[in-house]
Amino acid sequence: MASLSFVNVCKTYKNGQTVVKDFNLDIKDREFLILVGPSGCGKSTTLRMIAGLEDISSGELWIDGQLMNMTSPQSRDLSMVFQFYALYPHLSVRQNMAFGLKVHKVPKEEIDKRVGRAAKILHIDHLLDRKPSALSGGQKQRVAIGSVIVRQPKAYLMDEPLSNLDAKLRAQMRVELAKIHRELGATIIYVTHDQVEAMTLGTRIVVMNSGVIQQAASPNDIYQNPMNQFVAGFLGSPSMNFMPVWVERREERICLEFNKNRLFVNEICAKRLVEGGYLGKRVTLGIRPEDFCEAGPEEQKLLLNVDLKEVLGAEILFHGHIGRSEACVRLSPNVKAEAGESLPIYADMDRIKLFDMDTEQNILYI
Ligand SMILES: Nc1ncnc2c1ncn2[C@@H]1O[C@H](COP(=O)(O)OP(=O)(O)O)[C@@H](O)[C@H]1O
Ligand SMILES: [Mg+2]
Repeated sequence: MASLSFVNVCKTYKNGQTVVKDFNLDIKDREFLILVGPSGCGKSTTLRMIAGLEDISSGELWIDGQLMNMTSPQSRDLSMVFQFYALYPHLSVRQNMAFGLKVHKVPKEEIDKRVGRAAKILHIDHLLDRKPSALSGGQKQRVAIGSVIVRQPKAYLMDEPLSNLDAKLRAQMRVELAKIHRELGATIIYVTHDQVEAMTLGTRIVVMNSGVIQQAASPNDIYQNPMNQFVAGFLGSPSMNFMPVWVERREERICLEFNKNRLFVNEICAKRLVEGGYLGKRVTLGIRPEDFCEAGPEEQKLLLNVDLKEVLGAEILFHGHIGRSEACVRLSPNVKAEAGESLPIYADMDRIKLFDMDTEQNILYI
């Protein structure tokens, strides 16, 4: 398996559009690295540059200490799974999975062993003698993934491999991919725009926007300690609530004021705000839906004017407004409130985020 390194990598397409900008990243051996970001942010382009399917306009790509810029895709020893599976219709599942190995003249015994193992991991061992036409979409995608994992390349590259599957299959395949990663001890670079996949699969997540890395960190870090407002808003479902607030000093303490609401911040937060010169200025308050409670001290209270309630069984999502700001709040199923009512909610002031209005950087980033 392999480690990869990007040094100031840029990609400009022939039309002059630069879609990957100054990409710097070290990927360690055995990482399950996720590239995540909105559609068009440059994820596939980045993956295709690793595979050698796109030229690198400037900068360097290293694999295991060797410069790869000029190396042909075949000589990079990587395997790629695409969003749209391509199987040979006239070959059986077994033959499809074995195809790449046969081309590389791997001995038959070894081929049988690897195909058997991959089929077991992917739960397709009972389908080995079928033709692709006799498979469901989900089964075909498993075979496509199978024909990639039988190879033992330096790294696996996967571009939204689950995005054509229905929700249930996607959830199953997520678990299987995590197992594959563990069992093969493989380096995997995985592109998705699905934040659940990103959070559950990745040992590390790289969040991209407009061709620029926003943050690279563990799923937990990305979620708890986002570097900026884009990252904070991109991961989490429903997403973080954002509200413009004034930073003021009242009763010798620092508070956030908006629409007649007042929230006193904790000491760490007060220190950052004062030292950052935010007193008397506006910042963006960020609170995740789950960082509200149905009970708490009076000074953390806000009123949510409920527009809509979604009962999800284990929890209820209340959508509405706090003053003029839209908000979504996740509370326990025993909270009683209906659309049209105003519901007292309490912000967990140890979990709030604050963002600079101009730079959108997280003022509380550690
Ligand atoms: N071959 C190409 N020529 C010109 N522009 C391209 C080409 N491929 C992709 N793009 C553009 O590059 C940007 C990034 O695309 P892509 O890497 O596919 O994004 P993502 O995978 O994150 O959705 C998009 O604006 C897309 O339109
Ligand atoms: Mg893409």
